[in-house]
Amino acid sequence: MKILVTGGLGFIGSHTVVELQQKGFEVVIIDNLSNAGIEVLEGITAITGKVPEFVKMDLRDKQKVNQFFRDHSDIEGVIHFAASKAVGESVENPLLYYENNISTLVYILQELSKKDRARFIFSSSCTVYGQADELPITEGAPVKPAESPYGNTKQVGEEIIRDTCNINKNLEAIALRYFNPIGAHPSAHIGELPIGVPQNLVPFITQTGIGLREQLAVFGDDYPTEDGTCIRDYIHVVDLAKAHVVALERLLNKKNKENYEVFNLGTGRGSSVLEVIGSFERVSGEKLNYRIAERRPGDVIAAYADTTKANNELGWKAQSSLDDAMTSAWKWEQKIRK
Ligand code: UFG
Repeated sequence: MKILVTGGLGFIGSHTVVELQQKGFEVVIIDNLSNAGIEVLEGITAITGKVPEFVKMDLRDKQKVNQFFRDHSDIEGVIHFAASKAVGESVENPLLYYENNISTLVYILQELSKKDRARFIFSSSCTVYGQADELPITEGAPVKPAESPYGNTKQVGEEIIRDTCNINKNLEAIALRYFNPIGAHPSAHIGELPIGVPQNLVPFITQTGIGLREQLAVFGDDYPTEDGTCIRDYIHVVDLAKAHVVALERLLNKKNKENYEVFNLGTGRGSSVLEVIGSFERVSGEKLNYRIAERRPGDVIAAYADTTKANNELGWKAQSSLDDAMTSAWKWEQKIRK
């Protein structure tokens, strides 16, 4: 069974391609290589022993998208990762984000709407909840006004899919709201490859640990949390990847209750920034150089998932601990810097 994975050479995409291939799916990857290298294909192949079909393409080219779906009429499902994801950059260049994240989504849905049956999995984010009033966060929590154009593309993206599913019952879709994906494949053949200075906590920690960065700035220690630093739900990327396969199988096996569904993907456990640093120091045996800095504008105090719906409906549960994820992230960092 053939599955299209857009952005399949990216961080979460590549791990999902691995899980799909290991479950016997045939994968076609579309990626424009804007934030991923072609060598990721080799990493995927090294783990699975299978070379996925790869098409270098920019999904903003509507005609090419149309041609692709005409040439690949046997695609049974689409997992759509291709998108830009840097919050700060989205503030600087909102139209780039609306074009990359919204236009491409519309073009794919237009093609899927021509099919008798189509299944679609969308990368959404816990960012849609903003600072939730209640923790842990359930899927029923209200969507809050987006803090950035990036966040807005996830909210609007979900609405576009919901509206399309409303009138097109041949389209079955699931939006997956990720909490904080971290880590790498335990084989260290694939992992996260941030371009430039990492914006996210864990790659910044591992790059500091390896000596690429001088010092980590902890953004604020005066938040109303136990140790004063922000709390997030860090989920191992392999657990996250597995959830995509389970969600796709739910649609393929017609187990979905509605033709548009939403699930939180997290561990259900919140960790503070200082706890994440502690985990790094424990698994690496290295002392991390860090200092307490100003709060970062736009950061919410605490966000962690209520995973009951994903656990019960998808039959999926995150397996890895924070230390497991950090061990894999550190192994990956050491490998790529060699
Ligand atoms: N942090 C630091 N120092 C750093 C980087 C991060 O202290 O150098 C802290 C942040 O303040 C935050 C925590 O580490 O408390 C996690 O920060 P990340 O940037 O790794 O993750 P975020 O929770 O901020 O970002 C996530 C997703 C984004 C999404 C955003 C919305 O990665 O895609 O949530 O809130 F847009």
